[in-house]
Amino acid sequence: MKYSCFALLLLFFITLHTAPNIAVIGTGYVGLVTGPGLAEFGNQVTCADIDQNKIERLQQGEIPIYEPGLEELVQHNVQQNRLKFTHDVGAAIEEADIIFIAVGTPMGSDGNADLKYVQSVLKTISEHMNGFKIIVIKSTVPVGTGRWASYVLQNLGVQPDQFTMVSNPEFLREGSSVPDFLKPDRIVIGAESEQAHTTMNEIYSYAFAHDAQQINTNIETSELIKYASNAFLAVKLSFINEIANICDATGAQVDTVAHAMGMDHRISDKFLNPGPGFGGSCFPKDSQALICLAQKNGIHVPVVQASLTTNQIQKVKPIEKLKELLRAKKLNAKTVAVLGLAFKANTDDIRYSPSIDVIRILLEEYAQVKAYDPKAMDNMKHEMPNINYCDSIAEAVKDVDGVIIMTEWPEFKDLLDYIKYKKNKPVIVDTRNILDTKELKNAGFTYATMGNGTNQN
Ligand code: UGA
Repeated sequence: MKYSCFALLLLFFITLHTAPNIAVIGTGYVGLVTGPGLAEFGNQVTCADIDQNKIERLQQGEIPIYEPGLEELVQHNVQQNRLKFTHDVGAAIEEADIIFIAVGTPMGSDGNADLKYVQSVLKTISEHMNGFKIIVIKSTVPVGTGRWASYVLQNLGVQPDQFTMVSNPEFLREGSSVPDFLKPDRIVIGAESEQAHTTMNEIYSYAFAHDAQQINTNIETSELIKYASNAFLAVKLSFINEIANICDATGAQVDTVAHAMGMDHRISDKFLNPGPGFGGSCFPKDSQALICLAQKNGIHVPVVQASLTTNQIQKVKPIEKLKELLRAKKLNAKTVAVLGLAFKANTDDIRYSPSIDVIRILLEEYAQVKAYDPKAMDNMKHEMPNINYCDSIAEAVKDVDGVIIMTEWPEFKDLLDYIKYKKNKPVIVDTRNILDTKELKNAGFTYATMGNGTNQN
């Protein structure tokens, strides 16, 4: 992209002489950590969202999602006058030198990432351009989106020398996204110009001074780094889930297998915990989007495809195990406690949660479902209003035939305290391997794990 002398001078000025104003558009799981995180690095940030109600809550100090450490981070930066919230997205754009787009890119009906929210932000940007701006796409978007966004803006009448596009993907894990943002492994910046790289490196200078690795590259490479990372992790998870199933069939112990595998530095022990299949808004959606991208380019990606197929099979395993323990072909007339509704611990997010699949099957088979989760029940009530929500583990496991642990919330480790002395002990399916199998066995439980053995009395 060509720059006018004016734009280059302005960029130079922004980079070296003033703290740039940053607008973060979208206050979901990504934007609401990115904005306060950038403010914590010393930047001046406005978080904007069209959802007036959400912004009013944020202005009153109320955090609309559960994310450990976020409330303190927001409070601290608001107090320091580095962070504010507005639902006047246009005004935030006009004030900003750098605009981060952090809106959702959900999976469309064709498996592709749906860019309608990104497109809508681009339109708003085009209506409020009042000077040169760096436009950063933070949302996870298919390779080619940066280039596409540039065309969209120009079609909307924005002059090419009035903006430059940047890709700066996020690698935040829900539940630990605050420390992930503040102390990242790496910060990837894909840009078309040296000046944009320089300005972006400036706003992240605090993180670079504290050991974050820096990758400066072009936009397409940056966009693909995000998809390749998520798809690789999804493959790793499906792989260990397959190994866990082999362990179940052969008597091998997956914990030890994974531990020993992880001692090889080329493999690493991270992301080798088997479970009920991966969920969340990222792995299923991003793997699918990568498949679509490959297909569009005539490339076969059977490994990525297989990780999704394995994941679908894995999501049914908790039910298969429950039936095996109960020696039942169907689950009608059975009452089952589902402990954990969020797709993983430390979040209230239920998107693509394996618990949804499990509860659906239980309901299809006319089982009675009692559900408990420390943080995700409100979200699940919208998705599944007709199950019995309980206020505690104790209430959930009262008079049930079976208990399925779906999420690795620390409090579920104490499950046995609630059922150890019961005369009619429920069977237990521990899909996260958080219970002590020796203790389970000694207390006379009938149980199944994911690859760490089964005990059938
Ligand atoms: C994931 C990536 O880890 C982040 O780097 C990325 O930024 C994010 O997607 C995104 O694209 O926005 P997240 O979806 O929050 O983050 O959750 P993870 O902690 O990665 O877990 C994903 C799924 O894998 C969960 O269902 C979790 O229970 C499962 N998992 C994870 C396992 O079953 N075993 C493990 O060892 C680790």
